Amino acid sequence: MWKGRFKEQTAALLQSFSESISFDWRLWRHDIEGSIAHSAALEKAGLISKKERAQIVAGLRGIGEEIAAGKFRFKTELEDIHMNIEAELTKRIGDAGAKLHTARSRNDQVALDIRLYLRDECDAISELLRDLQRALVELAERNRDIIIPGYTHLQRAQPVYFAHHLLAYVEMIERDLGRVADCRKRINVLPLGSGAIAGSTIVLDRKLVAKLLGFPAITQNSMDAVSDRDFAVELLAALALVATHLSRLSEDVILWASSEFKFITISDAYTTGSSLMPQKKNPDVAELTRGKTGRVIGNLVSLLTTLKGLPMTYNRDMQEDKEPVFDSVDTVKAALAVFAGMLDGTKANAAACAAAVADPMLLATDVADYLVNRGVPFRSAHEVVGKAVALCTQRGCDLPQLTLADWRTLSPAFEKDVARCFDLATAMAARKGIGAPSPKNVAAQLARWKKSLS
Ligand code: ARG
Repeated sequence: MWKGRFKEQTAALLQSFSESISFDWRLWRHDIEGSIAHSAALEKAGLISKKERAQIVAGLRGIGEEIAAGKFRFKTELEDIHMNIEAELTKRIGDAGAKLHTARSRNDQVALDIRLYLRDECDAISELLRDLQRALVELAERNRDIIIPGYTHLQRAQPVYFAHHLLAYVEMIERDLGRVADCRKRINVLPLGSGAIAGSTIVLDRKLVAKLLGFPAITQNSMDAVSDRDFAVELLAALALVATHLSRLSEDVILWASSEFKFITISDAYTTGSSLMPQKKNPDVAELTRGKTGRVIGNLVSLLTTLKGLPMTYNRDMQEDKEPVFDSVDTVKAALAVFAGMLDGTKANAAACAAAVADPMLLATDVADYLVNRGVPFRSAHEVVGKAVALCTQRGCDLPQLTLADWRTLSPAFEKDVARCFDLATAMAARKGIGAPSPKNVAAQLARWKKSLS
């Protein structure tokens, strides 16, 4: 491939070791878009004629159509997407094609392509994050009256609306959206024009290129521009967090779908059977999502590790950025889409939830609060109710079965109305501080999200 200083052919072993076309072919659309904009700057500088520009644009579009139709044959000996497209262009249009790489290096070209690719993917991922928020809000809305035990340490803690639990994930995803939008700002900067490292003696109008490609900003240091992959790290970090959130949601879904909980039933379309046990209906979507999170986190660590030892500026190591980036983008997009589909077909089981939330121990804190409202310091109240729990354990009964006399042996502050602590509706209505799950609050949050997602 290299003429000029090389007398020997590249060794076949090196060719297959160094090629990236097997994975960076997918940057073709962005590579072509970038080259078309670059050719406008070449024309403006008088380096190519209007006619040559037209040949370049038509040639590139023709190549693009063939790639889109799956008819283009990529060549490993041409190493990467940039060389494949440029070589084919020159083969087709001759000299005009050979002029395209003027004042450009693959170093700024690849930086441009990844930025264009990631900018598109930020938008696609944001759409999918919104869709998942919608699926969560709709599941919450369909089951807005269902109350379940909330858990800490996976031990029953306090009652919450099922909707409140789901809306917690909607909040997490909102922050994920913020992170994607934030790193998109730093992705959205034009690196082309930085050349291999130090720009070029042939000066092109970078502002024109930025305008044509929709970049609101231009990199200001050519060395930084060709060696910077921070923006990719940022997106991988944002995606690692998206995956981590999905993984936690997966864990909830897996627990809730178990016979032990039975809070939800996932549709047949989003579950799988067992090759051996006929009764099984497995929550594979959630398990695979949880499993794939390991890869997505690994991709972040992989790219950071690739970058950490690199001297300025471009080093070939940086070619290793692509596979982790592509893998995280593909994996997270697929998980988001399949998860939303699964939630759309998920039903909550009112009876099982009601049975679980009927556990009076979930309201032990409410009894302590009852005492606090009668002047008992919280620490003493906590101890008193702890003793009541111990008494129940000893007798094998539940808190509501204790008599007023029992309660009063523990604290004289108890009155007959202690029984009212165990009314679930009253208990929920009392949780009315900002962010707490009173029915009114949860309804307001559902309304807020429905509005902002519509
Ligand atoms: N395929 C290369 C990459 O992805 C393109 C840049 C190559 N630059 C170079 N000087 N060899 O990083």
